[in-house]
Amino acid sequence: MSASSPDGLRVARAAGVARGKRLSFVFDGVPVLAYEGESVAAALLAAGQRVLRTTPVTNAPRGVFCGMGVCYDCLVAIDGELSRRACVTLVTEGMQVQTQLGFGATP
Ligand code: FES
Repeated sequence: MSASSPDGLRVARAAGVARGKRLSFVFDGVPVLAYEGESVAAALLAAGQRVLRTTPVTNAPRGVFCGMGVCYDCLVAIDGELSRRACVTLVTEGMQVQTQLGFGATP
């Protein structure tokens, strides 16, 4: 993940554009900056994280593909619950997110 800028890879703030309250959550043990109203996927992409899970048979990396809850390529474990779609789950303060390996193991 990239932590070179507090806003990571988000688009630059412009006049009239506001973000929600700043918060943080944890991804695979690393704190990640997010803003209220962002999905887990959006916050992770902004932090430079591309791989969210691996496939069950070949362990191929997968990440955000459709970004709208249809393809299930963004499955992660959230607060111990497996197979949550990162693209349709909003971040909350302190949530624990983990890469999902295959059908359900985490690192
Ligand atoms: S990216 Fe397709 S369901 Fe999340």
